[in-house]
Amino acid sequence: MLNAEAIRKALSPGVDPGRIDVVEEIDSTNAEALRRLADAPATPGAECLLVARSQTAGRGRRGRQWLSPQNAGIYLSLTQVFEAELNQLQALSLVTALSVAQAIDELGGEPVQLKWPNDVLAGNKKLAGILLETSGNHQQPAIVFGIGINLKLPAEVIEDLGRPVTDLSTELKSEIDAGSLIASICNRLFPNLKTHAQQGFIAFQDDWNSRDRYLHRDVILANGNDRNIGRALGVDAQGALLLQTAQGIRTVSGGEIFPSLYEADKFTS
Ligand code: BTN
Repeated sequence: MLNAEAIRKALSPGVDPGRIDVVEEIDSTNAEALRRLADAPATPGAECLLVARSQTAGRGRRGRQWLSPQNAGIYLSLTQVFEAELNQLQALSLVTALSVAQAIDELGGEPVQLKWPNDVLAGNKKLAGILLETSGNHQQPAIVFGIGINLKLPAEVIEDLGRPVTDLSTELKSEIDAGSLIASICNRLFPNLKTHAQQGFIAFQDDWNSRDRYLHRDVILANGNDRNIGRALGVDAQGALLLQTAQGIRTVSGGEIFPSLYEADKFTS
C-alpha cells in the first residue's frame, strides 16, 4: 500500500527518514524537496521522504525529463542533512544505486545489475534511475536523493522513450507493493550511508563491481561530443570508473557509457 503509515510500519528499527509525505501529483519530488530546503535551513528537522504517485516535470540526469505517469513508477526524494562537508557526491550516488538494487533483489527474480554511475538495469534495460541534488551550506550540506523506479510503464511511454527500458511488473511477473519497496530501499540505504560515512566507498567497491553490467566489456564513454573507447574495469575505491584504453588506464569521473557507438550517438543527441 502506498501511504505514509504503511511505509513507516515497514521500516527497520532505527531507520527514520523524518517526515513522510505521499502526494497524488507534483511537478518533481526533487524540485519540491529543494524548495522545502530553501524555505527552511538544512537542519536535521528538514529530513523527509517525499513520494508522489505522478510527476508532471520529473527530472532525470543530464537535464533529461523523467516521464512519471500515475502509478507507473515509484517517484521519491529523500532529503538528508550531513554533518560534514561532502566531496563524495558521486560515490553516494553509486551507494544509492546499490541500495536500490539490493532492495529490488529482495523481491526475488534475477539479481539486477548496475551501469556506471547509477543506473539500475535488468538485462540491458533500465529499471531505475537516481538523481542526487544538493542544497545547504558547506558545513551542513543537504542531499536530495531522487529515485525513480519503473513499476508498470504504459506501452506508449516505453515507445516515447525510445530507449531500452523495462519495469518490475515485466521482470517479476507480479504486482509490486510500492510502499514496501520504498521502505526496503530506506532499510538498505540508511545503513549503507552510515557505512559509507565510516569507511568510504571502498566498503562497497566489490559489491558494486559484482553487479556491474559492463565489467570487462568494451564500451564507449560519451562526454558531450567526445567519444572514448575502452574496456570497463569496474570502479575504484572512490567510485570512479576505470577504463582501459590504448593509452593506459583512465580514471573517469564524468560522462555516460554505452555498449556501442551507435547507442552513444543515438541516445546523447
Ligand atoms: C536518471 O536520469 O536516471 C535519474 C532519474 C531520477 C528520477 C527521479 S523520480 C523522483 C525524483 N524526482 C525527480 O524529478 N527526479 C527523481
